[in-house]
Amino acid sequence: MGRYNFDEVIGRKNTSCLKYDFGMTRKGRDDLLPLWVADMDFKLPDEVLEDLHKRVAHGIFGYTDPDDEYVSALNSWYKKRHGFEIDGKSITVTPGIVYSIAVAIKAYTKPGDSVLIQQPVYYPFMETIKLNDRKVVNNQLIYKDGHYEIDFDDFEEKIIKERVKLFLLCSPHNPVGRVWTREELIRLGDICNKHDVIIFADEIHSDFVYEGHKHISFMTLGNKYTDRVVLGTSPSKTFNIAGLQVANVIIPNEKLRALFKRENEAAGYSQGNALGMAALISVYTKAEAWLTELLDYLQGNVDFVRSFLKEKLPEIRLIEPEGTYLVWLDFSEITKDYHELEKIVVDGAKLWLDPGIIFGRETALFERINIACPRSVLVQAMDQLYEAVTDYKNL
Ligand SMILES: Cc1ncc(COP(=O)(O)O)c(C=O)c1O
Repeated sequence: MGRYNFDEVIGRKNTSCLKYDFGMTRKGRDDLLPLWVADMDFKLPDEVLEDLHKRVAHGIFGYTDPDDEYVSALNSWYKKRHGFEIDGKSITVTPGIVYSIAVAIKAYTKPGDSVLIQQPVYYPFMETIKLNDRKVVNNQLIYKDGHYEIDFDDFEEKIIKERVKLFLLCSPHNPVGRVWTREELIRLGDICNKHDVIIFADEIHSDFVYEGHKHISFMTLGNKYTDRVVLGTSPSKTFNIAGLQVANVIIPNEKLRALFKRENEAAGYSQGNALGMAALISVYTKAEAWLTELLDYLQGNVDFVRSFLKEKLPEIRLIEPEGTYLVWLDFSEITKDYHELEKIVVDGAKLWLDPGIIFGRETALFERINIACPRSVLVQAMDQLYEAVTDYKNL
């Protein structure tokens, strides 16, 4: 065993926890095992908790801005792990990535303009575009032999036809688990350069990459590409601090940055969350060893799900994740009706997963399962799924 115990099951009920405490409100029942929202069930290492305790003990939580220590912690993490330096000037601190996407939509497009996404994709992309009265243009990813690829011809055609102004890139991609290669990113970047499309690169999952793959940040592709990129980063997935609301939007291009900052101010946001900012400094300077062990543990969880399915539920296809802790499962050999699928998962298996339909119309027969939980919880979830599918097949 390593230094950290990811097997420990820590009760999260009665902590106002979205994942565990809102079954009644959101699903109309509270008997489901939740493996839906991208939120992990692991405790941060003591070093980080000590820093937070110290900050709390100070007792004053007034307006807080990013100082040199903050910029240096952020910069050293990205330099070491992702190969690029962050200039302090290029940073805008925001409360989250979805918020930042909404700001970017307002900064770079007008109502009625087209914004392109690649479904199946993290559903707030679509919702945020729609709620801001912009048009959703979808460049559907190609699903072939259990693997997802980009349809580049369609990407360019849609950009031209719909006069796309902004592209929301999900890298690594939630939910299909692709870690895009340099070649793929450059092809996307070239097309965006050619047609003057701004790219919001949501790299929130960039620290979750499995063996044999490497996350390539859009920031490392060279000036020709970074000049039109708005990079969304946050420690909130990597260290599970979404509740502390801190994200960083990096925009090298001065003009794009000014437009973003203007909309951010127009929304009334200025200073960041004091505890979130303290947590960022702590995790980026003290928790790398924790992440290294966590990645091993998550790899073990993926391996477990893969072998369980192979042995007991071979009709369910696992889309091999290259990154993220979200595993995308294809149930189309079990049923062709997504209402039936929901019944199997919810009524039968008593699981709360994210149904494929919310990620786009074409993936109604998929489910997304969050594997960032202790192995015993995952074993229980897979056992429950096995029972439910077996019952369904015997009907
Ligand atoms: C791709 C992606 N972007 C953004 C978010 C949410 O980010 P935030 O909580 O900072 O808005 C998630 C959470 O699951 C995500 O998967």
